[in-house]
Amino acid sequence: MDESAIADGLSGIGRSSELSGAIDAENRLEPMPATEWQRLIALPAQTPALDRLRSNTVGTLVVIGSTTGSPSFPLQPENSQLPGIATIRSGTSSEDPWGELVDGLARLYVMGATIDWEAYQEGRRARRLPLPTYPFERQRFWVLPSRADATAAAGEVVLKTPVWRPALTVTGERWAGGVWLVLADPDGIGDEIVHHLALRGAQAILVRPGEYFGRPAPDQYTIRVAVAEDYVRVLQQVESEWGMPRGICHLWAAARDGRVPHLADVDTTFASGVESVVALLRAVSTWGRRAGLELWIVTADAIATGKEEGPLHPERAALVSLAQVAAQESRDLLVRVVDATWKDGEASALASCVLQELLRGSPEPTVAAYRAGRLLQRDLLPIQAATVEKPAIEAGRVWWIVGGLGDLGFEVASHLAAAGSCRLVLTGRTRLPPRLAWQEYLANEAPTAIAKAVRRVMQLEAMGAEVLLAPGDVSDLQEMQEAAQLINDRYGGVYGVIHAAGVAGQAKPVQKLDSAALSSVLRGKARGGLVLDTVSRDLKPTHFIFFSSLSALYGGLGFGDYAAANAFLDVLAHLRRSQGLPALAINWAGWRDRGLETQAVYVTENRPQTLTVDEALAAFDAALPSGMTQVVVEPSTPGFPPLRPTESPPHPSRLLSEATSPALSGLPVPPGELGLPAQASPTKQSPGPSGLLATIRKALASLLSAPEEELDADAPLVDFGMDSRIGLQFLQALEEQFAVELPLTLLADHPSLAAVARYLHLRLSPSPGV
Ligand SMILES: NC(=O)c1ccc[n+]([C@@H]2O[C@H](COP(=O)([O-])OP(=O)(O)OC[C@H]3O[C@@H](n4cnc5c(N)ncnc54)[C@H](OP(=O)(O)O)[C@@H]3O)[C@@H](O)[C@H]2O)c1
Repeated sequence: MDESAIADGLSGIGRSSELSGAIDAENRLEPMPATEWQRLIALPAQTPALDRLRSNTVGTLVVIGSTTGSPSFPLQPENSQLPGIATIRSGTSSEDPWGELVDGLARLYVMGATIDWEAYQEGRRARRLPLPTYPFERQRFWVLPSRADATAAAGEVVLKTPVWRPALTVTGERWAGGVWLVLADPDGIGDEIVHHLALRGAQAILVRPGEYFGRPAPDQYTIRVAVAEDYVRVLQQVESEWGMPRGICHLWAAARDGRVPHLADVDTTFASGVESVVALLRAVSTWGRRAGLELWIVTADAIATGKEEGPLHPERAALVSLAQVAAQESRDLLVRVVDATWKDGEASALASCVLQELLRGSPEPTVAAYRAGRLLQRDLLPIQAATVEKPAIEAGRVWWIVGGLGDLGFEVASHLAAAGSCRLVLTGRTRLPPRLAWQEYLANEAPTAIAKAVRRVMQLEAMGAEVLLAPGDVSDLQEMQEAAQLINDRYGGVYGVIHAAGVAGQAKPVQKLDSAALSSVLRGKARGGLVLDTVSRDLKPTHFIFFSSLSALYGGLGFGDYAAANAFLDVLAHLRRSQGLPALAINWAGWRDRGLETQAVYVTENRPQTLTVDEALAAFDAALPSGMTQVVVEPSTPGFPPLRPTESPPHPSRLLSEATSPALSGLPVPPGELGLPAQASPTKQSPGPSGLLATIRKALASLLSAPEEELDADAPLVDFGMDSRIGLQFLQALEEQFAVELPLTLLADHPSLAAVARYLHLRLSPSPGV
């Protein structure tokens, strides 16, 4: 280790005495000879110093001292000796002191400290390699625990449940000046934040929701919550009069609301939450000055940590997951969420949590949950499913399955039917023809959704189940009241309700979500969940199961609307539990070859790991009696998978692009074969194949911080460390560069620079095939 280099780096930093903890700010560290460092390193650190440091509100402490010997500084900040102070240290016992220091630096980074990586890397040749950021990619770049440590064997399914624990934090304050837009709540959180920002020299512009665009005072606006044009106007005016905004703080989903969420309010709350953030992101994209802008979304009681002061708000949970996806999708815009809880009369307590995060300014965690003033982080705790004693699937029970004629609903219905003589009430929007016409209908009609549904009902009946059809739209209160009445009249109640209805998301980045389609995704799952919660109460179910998805927890590019709808259900389950009602939300991984997640569009050709139907049903059996409110079902990944992504079967169009021409200068590929629209867009004059290749290579090199000459045109993009996140950023860069809208599947279908250039050449050519 080059000690003098370290000493050089430390000069100018206050030195703390190991014994007293006194900080000698005047007497800055001077470069010291190696022998002096060795002497200091050999001294064990003394605990009395800790009190002094704490009273000096030290947030980060780099301890250079013995790792052995007692007393010594604690390594873990959650150790009660040193709350709120992150420590790293290096020891002399190690054979790799430099490695220990780097490890310590990494710890600080994970805790949220801002590290000057450029300075750290100075003089070295290093390449930024982004790690996978969401589960659907399923590429592992790290070594997993050995087989012996893994929680499940190959083919088994791991059941987990989310728990929230105190997180490691590094306190610290960055400069928070500049111009801020504060989308203020009615309860004073916004005013508190404005006050504190002003103390730090910032200029805050207040924006409140209104019926129309207005400017009641020079530094105040009213806008329509879901109208992107209003946000654009504010951004443009603020930029021209006050300067470039530094950040936006969205507080409209943080208002104090002690009421339990009600169906009558759900559309309004979606408008001021999910819809307003979509409109805001669209406006920022239209405005075009995203670089360096920060978007802080504040919610209250949206995350079920178990430590809430007021009722949970599922509609705000939808916003949290949507924002998480927006953060994953954003290249040059920092998106962060802070969720806190309301205590009566304490806008200041909530504001201080927001300020703490805002002043820390760290990009991680994307979602910060504060309870009792402490930052919590989510862990997924494995559940001992083996402790399940009696199977919950008993013969003869009445189950109401909404979405029961869909893929997952039908698999579960068959599973219940197989347990023996159960009675199944199946609900969906599709109305089947009268039973008398079924045989004839099946014989005469080509395969249709109705014929498929009819076959499924007949199959269930052949298994011995009694099937009652109660058609209707789950988001329609009246139709579901009628269905509930029908069930009550026939059976006098239900044993279990399963909400397995829903439609696929739009597979678009959040700012491009179409509002009508967004509402339809939210309607079936989220509003539908609330309707079922309402109408099922008199039926007194023992089980109430929501079919949710991993996307609610992990997000995923293009999953904004779908993740939002699922997150709503997770928190609705927790809300029901808090009311003493049965509830279980299951965050399913995709079911293999079943259902609407098979239609989802992924940015790379690597499909997510999926569950077989047998694995999923075994997990259903285990989750049901687990007593949990939320269960996460993922396939296990034991052993040591390769550090590089495993080969997935080549996409047909990939085969095509490889087969057609290895070189860009080869014969043009017909647009139909490339999956292009029949009429290629004549909007732009193509710059020519080699010009295109040079442009897109440059764009990718800049994203990857890699030299252009290293990016071989015909090499697979994954070889450059391309993952879905970089893929989306690359796509956005190309869209901006060429002013075209590109499909999310572009890079999956055309997985090399040459193939992308070929596609763009055809797409931008005035006539197809030229
Ligand atoms: N497939 C997966 O791998 C997967 C993974 C995680 C979670 N999930 C969740 O599991 C649930 C079922 O998914 P799936 O894959 O089985 O989808 P699916 O095959 O498309 O089935 C969905 C069913 O929901 C019904 N439905 C949709 N909107 C409705 C509404 N407004 N009112 C009443 N019924 C409605 C549809 O019937 P109608 O069109 O006739 O109404 C359809 O039968 C979804 O909520 C999905 O998010 C699925």
